[in-house]
Amino acid sequence: MKRARIIGTGSYLPETIRANSDIEKMVDTTSDWIFARTGIEERRIAADDELTSDLATKAAERALEAAGVTPEEIDLIVMGTITGDYPWPATACIVQNNLAAKNAYAYDVSAACSGFVYALSSASDFLQAGRGKKALVIGAEILSRIIDWTDRNTCILFGDGAGAVVLEAQDTERGIISSHMRSDGSYLDLLYQPGFGAKHPASQQGLDERLSFLKMQGNEVFKVAVRSLTEVSQEALAANDCTVEDVSLFIPHQANRRILEATAKRLKLTDEQCFINVHRYGNTSGATIPVAIDEAFRGGQLKEGDLLLLAAFGGGFTWGSTLIRW
Ligand code: COA
Repeated sequence: MKRARIIGTGSYLPETIRANSDIEKMVDTTSDWIFARTGIEERRIAADDELTSDLATKAAERALEAAGVTPEEIDLIVMGTITGDYPWPATACIVQNNLAAKNAYAYDVSAACSGFVYALSSASDFLQAGRGKKALVIGAEILSRIIDWTDRNTCILFGDGAGAVVLEAQDTERGIISSHMRSDGSYLDLLYQPGFGAKHPASQQGLDERLSFLKMQGNEVFKVAVRSLTEVSQEALAANDCTVEDVSLFIPHQANRRILEATAKRLKLTDEQCFINVHRYGNTSGATIPVAIDEAFRGGQLKEGDLLLLAAFGGGFTWGSTLIRW
């Protein structure tokens, strides 16, 4: 059976650590409050001269090296991001140029925190359809540039980072088994960036109203996230006649430890089945899942034949799951 298989993983996190104690000095909060409500202890912040394309390029270089694949062999680059270097063109094109992946075509996917699973599904479908042999799929974000560092409701949650995987079309039982994508645009204003798109083009008034920053109604997002992550995970398992016991590792989008624990509880997953690194990086949106895959694999938590379940949820709302035979 022709499937897209992950043959290399990589990630890159900026060096600067912003701990909860640092955020205590910026807004009216405490380290204990942040940890108790989110499970987050610290997050990474990109340097002033670092771009999303720089983070993505470093993660991609590590994934290519792990796969033993040269940039010229890549046919397709798909990148999940909502904090690209420019509103357009796609940051994937900048990464293509950085890597000198001159035979690839490249585009971004805008699905917020579901960006990587959407990108993975898209690239996998292209490879299965025979439209290329090797693809680079990236999730990369510099969320710190769209966070309002005076808003304690949001600034505690997010961080910067990048992860990448190399996919290869192979005649194999291993690889991406199925993808299940969902969205519901009626939830737009629970989690979004109001400016500066076509609705609110860049203006002094927009700056004064802080429209270029992420806005969120956290407790509403929380409820829909838990329900959606649970349902879309169950959908992936049911579609493939698998049970929760068959899952070797569950890697959910790392938004908040309480969301992850509530989802795992509903799915009846054990602690050993769940990968969590949100305490170290916070929510890096499209980057959380590829960073987690890279850390899980390099840490020996993913072995040949394992069944890996990914599930993501984000602004839009968008959500999705991917089932992978490692
Ligand atoms: N420090 C201290 N107090 C804070 C605070 C902070 N950083 N942020 C909010 N509060 C206060 C609120 O002002 C509110 O005070 P009030 O009762 O006097 O009005 C109180 O804490 C409770 O606020 P609430 O928003 O109900 O808290 P919560 O338990 O829902 O936790 C989040 C807030 C943001 C941590 C939580 O809703 C969450 O994680 N939501 C999901 C967000 C997410 O993951 N989004 C991305 C999905 S991809």
